[in-house]
Amino acid sequence: MARHYVEQDIDSILLSGEQIEKRVKELAAQISIDYEGKDFVAICILRGCVMFFADLMRHVTIPMAIEFMSISSYGSGSESSGSVKIKYDLEEDIRGKDVLIVEDIIDTGITLSNLTELLSARHPASLEVCCLLNKQDRRKVEVPIKYTGFDIPDEFVVGYGLDYDSKYRNYCGIGVLKREIYSD
Ligand code: IMP
Ligand code: MG
Repeated sequence: MARHYVEQDIDSILLSGEQIEKRVKELAAQISIDYEGKDFVAICILRGCVMFFADLMRHVTIPMAIEFMSISSYGSGSESSGSVKIKYDLEEDIRGKDVLIVEDIIDTGITLSNLTELLSARHPASLEVCCLLNKQDRRKVEVPIKYTGFDIPDEFVVGYGLDYDSKYRNYCGIGVLKREIYSD
């Protein structure tokens, strides 16, 4: 049987691994300046954000802590459910800390707006958002984003951590899936 490579299921490449790497370094440089001297904690929102988070953090040059959180917003479909459920919570208290939520993609904004409300109630000194991808046209709830990797059109994308039906997270760029994959 012929081998099945993930690239074969990608219709068009929106962002290459090289483009992402360049932008990630720029974001990390800015974050390193802005959080200098602060009690800085970055939160990785699992699972979509793992690739971006790991790459971003390794280019941050100041002392900092990292935390992980898993929340549910989407099932196996592609519409936001409207409320957020914590599946895995932070290990440490964020009270008085300068907190940066790191997300893979902001679509309707519903997940993030629920999450920022929930984390604000824990009294961090500051709470900001960094996202790799922003689909501004899809926004239903406004959420302030301090750092954006790329503004992208309204297309369902996969790769670099983002999935379709739990797959394609391992693709190194960000691409649009072939139509036949969706209609299977
Ligand atoms: P929101 O609540 O609509 O902003 O949903 C944000 C979440 O939906 C992200 O964290 C992703 O898990 C998922 N999501 C939104 N758009 C895409 C996409 O194009 N590809 C993969 N996941 C997506
Ligand atoms: Mg996500």
